[in-house]
Amino acid sequence: MLNSIGLQNPGVEYFMQYDLPWLKNQNVAVIVNACGSTIEDYVELCKILNKADIDGVELNLSCPNVKAGCLAFGTTYEGVKEVTSQVRKVLDKPLIVKLTPNVTDITLPAKGAEDAGADAVSLINTLLGMSININTRKPYLANNTGGLSGPAVKPVAVRMVYQVSQAVNIPILGMGGIINGDDAIEFMLAGASAVSIGAGNFIDPYTSVNTVKGIEEYMKNNNIDKIEDIVGKVQMN
Ligand SMILES: Cc1cc2nc3c(=O)[nH]c(=O)nc-3n(C[C@H](O)[C@H](O)[C@H](O)COP(=O)(O)O)c2cc1C
Repeated sequence: MLNSIGLQNPGVEYFMQYDLPWLKNQNVAVIVNACGSTIEDYVELCKILNKADIDGVELNLSCPNVKAGCLAFGTTYEGVKEVTSQVRKVLDKPLIVKLTPNVTDITLPAKGAEDAGADAVSLINTLLGMSININTRKPYLANNTGGLSGPAVKPVAVRMVYQVSQAVNIPILGMGGIINGDDAIEFMLAGASAVSIGAGNFIDPYTSVNTVKGIEEYMKNNNIDKIEDIVGKVQMN
């Protein structure tokens, strides 16, 4: 999937008043994905979220930093460390830092998050992509470029999860192309303690449910009692 839906939403106050009560009724943990255009945005947002009845915050660092030439916050060690440490000062809840894959060395931003006190990192966000209609000669997306995700990106994501698992000591939430239990197991073997699913939900809204079933089946077939026993257990050639 190549998307450029952007991050428009009704804002944190609306979310807390209308969406959060519904989410709290679903008997699940609620982790809020937060984004901003400046460090001040992230801090302000997290000050508000710190008082909310939520289980944690995931910082989306793929957003352009308007005060730094619109380069994404998450592309450098220093950028990630700066925004994470500022947020850490105002947020007592679990803090996950979500990394962009549009970098040469993913371990550097991951270390920035760890050094600034993040509780976990999540990866990968979408890969920058572009697609052109050969008849009109115009890009399909109004924004020209967009974020690529779904099964096509899985090998990139698995590689990055493995690299980050070798570089940091905090847990990893892995994602990028997961559509079934086998995919999830692959991420866990690479070093992810948990996984999440984005584009797969557009193929089938039951993807998450079926993925859990697939993980259980793999555990049964391979006599695994605790799923954490396979985390990072890839045997490299
Ligand atoms: C339609 C769509 C919207 C997304 N919106 C966000 C977002 O608001 N914040 C964020 O951090 N990532 C966002 N993502 C990225 C996904 O959370 C995920 O990191 C990425 O798509 C890779 O996983 P997947 O292949 O399972 O989709 C979005 C992805 C898609 C497809």
